[in-house]
Amino acid sequence: MKIISSIDELRDQLRGQLRTAFVPTMGNLHEGHLSLMRLARRHGDPVVASIFVNRLQFGPNEDFEKYPRTFADDIEKLEKEGVYVLFAPTERDLYPEPQEFRVQPPSDLGNILEGEFRPGFFNGVTTVVLKLFSCVQPSVAVFGKKDYQQLMIIRNMTRQFALPTEIIAAETWRADDGLALSSRNTYLSVSERSEAPTLYAELQAVAQAVRDGNLDVSMLEKKSMQKLASRGWNPDYVSIRKRSDLQPPTADDLAQNEPLIVLTAAKLGVTRLIDNLEI
Ligand code: PAF
Repeated sequence: MKIISSIDELRDQLRGQLRTAFVPTMGNLHEGHLSLMRLARRHGDPVVASIFVNRLQFGPNEDFEKYPRTFADDIEKLEKEGVYVLFAPTERDLYPEPQEFRVQPPSDLGNILEGEFRPGFFNGVTTVVLKLFSCVQPSVAVFGKKDYQQLMIIRNMTRQFALPTEIIAAETWRADDGLALSSRNTYLSVSERSEAPTLYAELQAVAQAVRDGNLDVSMLEKKSMQKLASRGWNPDYVSIRKRSDLQPPTADDLAQNEPLIVLTAAKLGVTRLIDNLEI
């Protein structure tokens, strides 16, 4: 595997490649990321991964400084997956001057759910993803459904800017007890780790209630948040939305069986976890 930090060298290395499959990451790779690499391999060749902890998508009080950085381990894992190039720019490589031009997602999608609780987050994500796409020029790029809103925003950005990259969605990778794999799981204490699968259990309970015909969406959301709070969580939201645009379903949408999804974000101790489940 070639490890490249400079944009010019990356472009030299990938020149002439017609079917590059790209998996952008922030490192601290776990089985979920590796499943994205395997999916990428099914859709293109060569597979290029990136590791870059993107300052632009962290708020001032968020975990940019302490975000887990495990570069040596990550390299070993990517080598085993047969990744051809790891693009690992420094901040100076990717942002040699202040990144003043930004991608601004539309507010109806970018300022809800995660965007409401993490102002500026999606602006930072789309800006770096557009820049990474410009560096790698992939034919396909793989993103996990665990970050469902991120996936939708990147898909819409790619379509609206007519980028020549197909966005592939990968299923969420879960531990045996249901907890969605996330680099932030490493922040959990032993007792928090045993409580953490409750988040997914709550999503399953809400999804089952809807499938059973309980369409009082706001009551289901409220009860679920109360349940989490009673177990020591600090939930930001449990929200049932339309899969198509992540807006709340109207009575008509519910009557017409519009495909739904339930999404959540909640803090356990200092660790903020997100998850979702298609209903
Ligand atoms: O999902 C992530 O790891 C990041 O948001 C991404 C897409 C690599 C952009 O920094």
